[in-house]
Order: sequence, then C-alpha cells, then structure tokens
Amino acid sequence: MSGEIPELTRDELEAHQLGSLRDTLRRVYAHVPHYRRSFDAAGVHHDDLTSLSDLRHFPFTTKADLRDNYPYGMFAVPREQVNRIHASSGTTGKPTVVGYTADDLDTWSELMARSIRAAGGRPGDIVHVAYGYGLFTGGLGAHYGAERLGCTVVPVSGGMTERQAQLIVDLEPRVIMVTPSYFLSILDELEAQGVDPRETSLEVGIFGAEPWTDEMRHAVEARTRLKAVDVYGLSEVMGPGVSQEAAETQDGLHVWEDHFLPEIVDPLTLEPVPDGEEGELVVTSLTKQAMPVIRYRTRDLTRLLPGTAYPAFRRMQKVTGRTDDMMIVRGVNVFPTQVEEQILAMAGLTPHYVCVLTRPGNLDELTVRVESVGEPGAEETGRLGNELAERIKTRVGVTARVEVVAPHSLERSLGKARRISDQRG
Ligand code: DLL
Repeated sequence: MSGEIPELTRDELEAHQLGSLRDTLRRVYAHVPHYRRSFDAAGVHHDDLTSLSDLRHFPFTTKADLRDNYPYGMFAVPREQVNRIHASSGTTGKPTVVGYTADDLDTWSELMARSIRAAGGRPGDIVHVAYGYGLFTGGLGAHYGAERLGCTVVPVSGGMTERQAQLIVDLEPRVIMVTPSYFLSILDELEAQGVDPRETSLEVGIFGAEPWTDEMRHAVEARTRLKAVDVYGLSEVMGPGVSQEAAETQDGLHVWEDHFLPEIVDPLTLEPVPDGEEGELVVTSLTKQAMPVIRYRTRDLTRLLPGTAYPAFRRMQKVTGRTDDMMIVRGVNVFPTQVEEQILAMAGLTPHYVCVLTRPGNLDELTVRVESVGEPGAEETGRLGNELAERIKTRVGVTARVEVVAPHSLERSLGKARRISDQRG
C-alpha cells in the first residue's frame, strides 16, 4: 500500500542505514568532485566507515558549497538522468539548485504519502494544496504525495485568498497543506465571508515550511475542527517529507530515518551532541540519487528524541528557529517563536506579528508589532502592549517595545512568513 509506514526494529533500521550510507559515500566520492576534494582534504574514505558514528569524521556540506557548485556541480548522475529541478528560496544572491532522478521523485512521493498518512490523511480524501507550486518544493512535493496516497488533489497553490476560501467551502477538502501563517489568512478570509471554519469539511492541517509553536497549534485548533500537525523538510535534502508529526501523538516530528540520517551538532564547536540536547540539525541523505548530501548543515535548531507513534524512527522537536533568525538584543538571544508563544498566551492579540530590529544608537532594539483582535480603544491597546512587553521581559528576558496595531495592517505572506524585519541598515 502506498505511504505505508515501515515497521522495523531499531537494529534493522540501523543496519539498513549503514549499508545505504556506505553506498552514498562511495557514489559521491566517485561522481562529485566537491566531495572527492573535501573527503581527501579531511583524510577520510568511505572504506573507513564501519559504524554510523564514524560519519562524524566526514566534512560538513553547507549552502555555500552548493552555491560554489551552482548549478549542476553537486549532481552525482549525468544531467540527462535528472528528471526535475527545484531551487531553494534563497533570499540573497544565486538560488541553490537541486535535482531529482525519476527514482528520487518516486521516493519523495512515497515519503510524502507516508507523511500525509501519518498526519491522518487517507486514500480517498480531498486534499487542498495551498503551498506554492513552482521552484519551491512545497506545492509539487505535497501534490505528488497526496496523489500517491490515492487522494483527490486540489492544486490551488498560494495566493488569491478569497478563492482559497471559496474552494474550501465548495469542494469540501478534508485535508489542507499550507504554511501555518498563510492558513491564518485563509481562516480570516473564511470568517470575513461569513463562514465559521468549524463548519467546514477540514479535519487535518499539515503545516510546515516555517517555524510555528504549540501555542499556534492550539490557536488554530480552537478556531477549527482540525488537527494541526507539523511537516518539515528542506529542498537541499529533498523538500517536505523529511520528518512528520503523527496525528495521534502530536509530539514532534518522526524523521524518516530509512532515507535520512539526522545528527545534532553544537552550532559553535560543530561537535555532535547526544540525543535530547538542542543544537543544529545536520542531515545526510541515504537514498538520494541525483544530488545526495553528506552532513548538510540545515541551520535549524532542534533536538532528537526517541520515537513514539513509530518507535524505530526518532523524533525531532518542533524547530525553534534558524540560527540565522536568532536576534541578539543587548546580549540576549531571542527567536521569533519565543515572542509568538507570549503573544498567543494573551486573549486580545492575534498571531499576525513581526519583530522589527533597529539600532538607533549603538544598541539593538526590538519592536514587536502585533495585530489586535477587533478594534480595542486606546486604553485597552495600551494595556495589551504593556502586558505583552512585560511578558517578553519576564519570560524571554529582553526589553521589547510593543506596538499593538489594527487588524489587517501588517503585510500578509502567501507562503513563508517573514517574522523579522531587520532595519538596522
Ligand atoms: O520549506 C520545504 C517544505 C515545504 C517543508 C512545505 C514543509 C512544507 P525550503 O524552501 O528549502 O524547503 O526551506 C527549508 O524552511 O531549513 C527550515 O528553516 C524551514 N522549515 C521547513 N519546514 C519547517 C517546519 C521547504 N516544519 C527551510 N518548521 C528549513 C520550522 C521549517 N521550519
């Protein structure tokens, strides 16, 4: 059956991982000049790998390596065998290009089918895909996975929010796949059209592509009848479907470890840390053909935990944020997700917010702009602002200016939300 979640013991899984890892290291050494050079420079060779932990001796791969080998230099197969290209959402400079053979696309579809199943989707479901289609991996990744599972796919892509709401009402999807921030806009639109989201057909929300908190999950679930679960991935490694949260436990994301080997490293020393400790996620692909990656530094912060719903597969905790998104405000490290937790703990505020960084003198200042619920008067707006500033001070440990703004005054994203506006010049 498509998308079935394999029942393996941990020992069986690790034996499979070791074989696949050796094969991947051998292939990249033979076919990708970058890896041949970097392995030789580090004095490591695939024949030396006798256990999974030996991988720690191999060099990391970074986004800069992919950029330096733009566009096709990291491919391990002749370009003619590459069936599909995607590109990551680079914000500056050249994008990074990734490639898939026909087998890779097959694996990806299967893993996304598995993810949708773990999220509570079933063959026969109607699936509304509001991730963007195109070079971004979200739309097509979700699309092929849902088709593979045997669902009826509605490929809406991002944007035209009024039409999104209309299609949800008319076509009655059970599952929606979308960034959590854009889903909030869709919910607002449904309500603006006089539709109670609880009365719609939606039962499963598969949200990813950006960090979001458990508080956001509770906020979304309170306004709907759906179960909100997290899906994680990145284009350099595959796209969505690297790890998935199970509907029955909603306790972090099971990494599909038969295809990806996760490690957590200390972001400063780059030494691996034990399971349970937070650090940067590093991923090695075990089965990718066109563009395998060895110890790819994701920049995402999380920790590895034992499996629950699928015991052989370890879980990763919801991602706190990217190392690049860490704001240092007068020496204190802050992530937007920490601000989000405080906003959502308050009744009068909405999850539409942005963290603005400025440097009026020599010191960084953080301003949190957040939309209120409805149009409170000046007094109530002042009270909400003071309360949020106080919560951020006592629970996050930084002084922030808070501006409570009117509903719909902040820019909406149709895909990944930008939670940080850096105006430090
Ligand atoms: O965002 C793939 C994807 C599409 C995942 C749809 C899930 C759903 P990229 O555009 O390459 O690929 O961006 C990857 O997005 O390194 C994280 O920083 C962030 N990210 C992705 N999923 C999550 C998540 C896709 N569930 C980058 N939680 C990653 C937090 C996420 N951050």
